[in-house]
Amino acid sequence: MGEAGYEEMEPPQALVERLKDFRQEQTLALWKELNPQERQLLIKDLESLDLSRVDRIIKQSFLLRDRPIPSPEPVPEASVSTVLERTPEERERWWKMGLKAICEGKLAVVLLSGGQGTRLGSSEPKGCFNIGLPSGKSLFQLQAERILRVQRLAAQSVPDGAGRYIRVHWYIMTSPFTHDATCKFFESRKYFGLESEQVTFFQQGTLPCISKEGRIILETPYQILRAPDGNGGVCAALKSSKCLEDMAMKGIKYIDCYGVDNALVRVADPLFLGYFIDKGVATAAKVVRKAYPQEKVGVFVQRGKGGPLGVLEYSEMDPSMAYAINQETGRLRYNLSNVCLHMFTLDFLTQVTEELEEDSIYHLAEKKMSCVEGPIMGIKLEQFIFDTFPYAPSMALFEILREEEFAPVKNANGHATDTPETSRLLVLHLHTRWVTAAGGFVTHSVPLYSTGVEVSPLCSYVGENLEDICRGRTFHAPSEITT
Ligand code: UTP
Repeated sequence: MGEAGYEEMEPPQALVERLKDFRQEQTLALWKELNPQERQLLIKDLESLDLSRVDRIIKQSFLLRDRPIPSPEPVPEASVSTVLERTPEERERWWKMGLKAICEGKLAVVLLSGGQGTRLGSSEPKGCFNIGLPSGKSLFQLQAERILRVQRLAAQSVPDGAGRYIRVHWYIMTSPFTHDATCKFFESRKYFGLESEQVTFFQQGTLPCISKEGRIILETPYQILRAPDGNGGVCAALKSSKCLEDMAMKGIKYIDCYGVDNALVRVADPLFLGYFIDKGVATAAKVVRKAYPQEKVGVFVQRGKGGPLGVLEYSEMDPSMAYAINQETGRLRYNLSNVCLHMFTLDFLTQVTEELEEDSIYHLAEKKMSCVEGPIMGIKLEQFIFDTFPYAPSMALFEILREEEFAPVKNANGHATDTPETSRLLVLHLHTRWVTAAGGFVTHSVPLYSTGVEVSPLCSYVGENLEDICRGRTFHAPSEITT
């Protein structure tokens, strides 16, 4: 066929009909301008879409966009373990319960690492980011080494344990935007000492970005603009990648699920796991107290008296709610922030995956995006991991201290909060406190608030095991303390 023939070539009739059925025929608007290869690419891209699923998601999400949360109430006290109320005996009991479950191979760790990290602005996946600690370790390495340390603590907790084979399986969710770079990073660094067999990478799905009218947007004249389907996409992705089946086969019962961008995350935390098992709930979340009323964090609420717990985003809170005070405690009434540190039973995660798919309700996130027509405000369709909570038959919250477990890396350096620099300092300050509590001394030639020592996770997980290494010794900050 000559050039003239191509110009007359029409898109496949079946595809045109399907697009019309779902009111997405605008995706072919530039057909006439495309060359043959570009036409093939566009056809392939459009045919790869499950249009009826996308249509269901768009309709459901628009329909329920402004659904009010049934009269949000503060979380009942009985659902929360607070730092103040937690007794040393409880802590010890939960810690041991958690280690026992880890020894029995019942815990898996799921990392949410498919985000595009646009605010941080790094071209690499966020987990590869070096926040500037003396060791130069990436977020991935800090997390891998914490898993290694927990495995060791678990092995030491059983009488015959020293040589026992204890491996915590790590399932790492990537997206098409982070997958190859993440896998290469792990391979080139030899999985940071973990066994490659204990790490499974799986990719989350993407969804087309849409206009305010619910029309699919093109990125180029022959390519749909897509974005990852949110960190709640982990449920569908665990299912489609058969990781849920793999977990069941391995005898895993509990799943620790967290976001990649917290430099202080206690991966596979035995204390939290023990608490979760002891409560016998379907899911649990670690929470921190809100720092100030307008802080841009989601908070836990009860969805109507006696209803399930859920997260209310800061954008959904009016000022009267954000500033409301609990007269008895003098604290904010809605005070428990979600920090993306969760525990699930495998049973609940499997069940909620079906329910989320059936309901197909996604958040409509309006974002600036670049499309074939240039920069526009479009809509990303996203599910969040916390969307699972209202489906849970039971849930418990576990308060943690920010300065011990929450050092988020969201924004590029230069912003006021949640930067690599603020996160680096949170790590150094905590570790300096561990070292001095263990009898060590820290010297520094710049003010201590701007420096500190780093403790390798291979030495210590929560400040344990440091006396032999630190007592009576002096460390000059900044430096790393290793085994
Ligand atoms: P954020 O909501 O902070 O998004 O993700 P982000 O992509 O890291 O950063 P911005 O908003 O583009 O700047 C919280 C956690 O959820 C993961 C992220 O990787 C991070 O661990 N996430 C987010 C996913 O795994 N998939 C997604 O589609 C979105």
